[in-house]
Amino acid sequence: MIGRVNHIAIAVPDLNAAVRRYREMLGASISDVQDLPEHGVRVVFVDTGNTKVELLEPLGKTSPIAAFLERNPDGGMHHICYEVADINASVRRLIESGARVLGDGKPKIGAHGLPVIFLHPKDFDGTLIELEEVKPDFAPA
Ligand code: CO
Repeated sequence: MIGRVNHIAIAVPDLNAAVRRYREMLGASISDVQDLPEHGVRVVFVDTGNTKVELLEPLGKTSPIAAFLERNPDGGMHHICYEVADINASVRRLIESGARVLGDGKPKIGAHGLPVIFLHPKDFDGTLIELEEVKPDFAPA
C-alpha cells in the first residue's frame, strides 16, 4: 500500500534559525516558508533530490507541535510521510486492521495541496506516520 517516502519531518524551535543552518552550513536548497493554519504549523521543505525534509515550527496557540517541543526543546524527528495512491482506500484498510487515524479520520489538504492523514504513533512503533495521496500520474503544475 505505501509507496515512496515523500518526506521526513523535523520539528524545530526556531524555523528561521533552522533554515539559516541548513542553507549556510549544509548548503541545502530550501523552499519558501508556508503557513498551514489548518495544521497549526509553518513549514519549509529541504530538497534532497531523492526525497524532502520538512522543517516545521508551531503556528498558533493550539499547534500540535507545541507539546512535542515542550518534551523535546531542541527539536527532533516528528513524522515520516509515505505516499499512497488512494487515501480513502488506505484509511478503510487501516481502520479494518485496527489502526487509529488521528482527528476525524477524514483527509485534510496538506502542504503540497494533496490529501493527507496521520496515524497514531502508538500503533506504529512510536512513529507518527503521515500518508499523502499522490496519484501515479500526478504532475506538479
Ligand atoms: Co508532513
